[in-house]
Amino acid sequence: MGVVGCGAISAQYFQTIDRLPQLRLVAVADLDLERAREAVRPYTGVDVLSVAELMADPRVDVVLNLTVPAAHAEIALQAIAAGKDVYCEKPLAATVADAGQMLRAADAAGVRVGCAPDTVLGTGTQTARKAIDDGVIGRPIAATATMMTPGHERWHPNPDFYYVPGGGPLLDMGPYYITSLVTLLGPVTTVIGAASRTRAKRTIGSGPRRGEEIPVTVDTHVTGVLVHASGVLTTLVMSFDGAATKAPNIEVHGEKGSLVVPNPNHFDGSVLVSGVGEEGWRALPDSAGYVGAGRGVGLADFAATPADEAPRAGGSLAFHVLDVMESLLASAHSGAAVTITSTCERPSPVDLLPAQGTQV
Ligand SMILES: NC(=O)c1ccc[n+]([C@@H]2O[C@H](COP(=O)([O-])OP(=O)(O)OC[C@H]3O[C@@H](n4cnc5c(N)ncnc54)[C@H](O)[C@@H]3O)[C@@H](O)[C@H]2O)c1
Repeated sequence: MGVVGCGAISAQYFQTIDRLPQLRLVAVADLDLERAREAVRPYTGVDVLSVAELMADPRVDVVLNLTVPAAHAEIALQAIAAGKDVYCEKPLAATVADAGQMLRAADAAGVRVGCAPDTVLGTGTQTARKAIDDGVIGRPIAATATMMTPGHERWHPNPDFYYVPGGGPLLDMGPYYITSLVTLLGPVTTVIGAASRTRAKRTIGSGPRRGEEIPVTVDTHVTGVLVHASGVLTTLVMSFDGAATKAPNIEVHGEKGSLVVPNPNHFDGSVLVSGVGEEGWRALPDSAGYVGAGRGVGLADFAATPADEAPRAGGSLAFHVLDVMESLLASAHSGAAVTITSTCERPSPVDLLPAQGTQV
């Protein structure tokens, strides 16, 4: 495989790739070649190439696209044109139109598209999914999903992409929550949204650009309701405008009980359950998902999936999630409910097994 984009998140991938026998990193590229050189310094045998050279390299079967969201489609289309599979960081693209172009091009070229987040393949979301599928809380009725932070500009040295289209709390963090919700509860058919934008500028809080102001051109507090095809109603809040929250990341409420789902931005964490009439919460033992996983396990799962099967971290799921998010913003701006025209299958469940032995 080859990696395009060697910024903040790349180190986590390089560590995972190094310990997964299914994946071998042969080359990296970045607009900033020095950054790419620095990122792979701890690893031997990795070439630093231009993007065009990496795309033309016959050793590269899969391009891992770790560029900023606005560049996801452009880099993916180059990989597809070179006849390579491509696995993108989230969101799949900055717009549904770009993502659609990407998936159509991949279909025509006979290559596959995968996409983060793969955190939902870890023990947290997978144990919760198994509990729901096993009927632990009965028929699911409702869910809540809450992400509340003051904004990533406090810690990210180049946070510009969080405040332009393709970013904002919904497109940045929503993929974790909505991918987890679709994994747990199935696809979404209608959304009703509301959104606000508190200020026109944000101040970078770390790194060489600390103190620099950057423009905000996206909504920074987004809330709404997702109507799932199953009839479940999810209430969602994604915000870069809150200091902190004690609300659980995700809760699912069923006819017989309620479930607390761990942070979908993490691979693991405790799933809690409380049955109707029960006092307090009990933790469920991990019963499904990749154990000890890190960012990149979804790519290993993708690479190991036979060509005639849909990968779990696949393009149609990521497209649906992006469609839900874009539609939620469209609903917020129009004031009307929006029908979701895309759909997807729930990805197949992952049995409890070590991350090194990715399952197909
Ligand atoms: N930072 C995080 O904690 C984090 C976590 C999970 C996912 N992600 C996702 O990972 C992706 C990258 O985020 P990041 O924080 O690493 O961003 P970053 O800005 O730190 O790094 C992006 C890198 O991509 C390079 N790049 C941009 N356009 C390019 C192009 N056209 N060709 C070649 N290189 C190009 C940039 O030079 C930069 O080095 C985003 O999609 C983000 O949503 C980030």
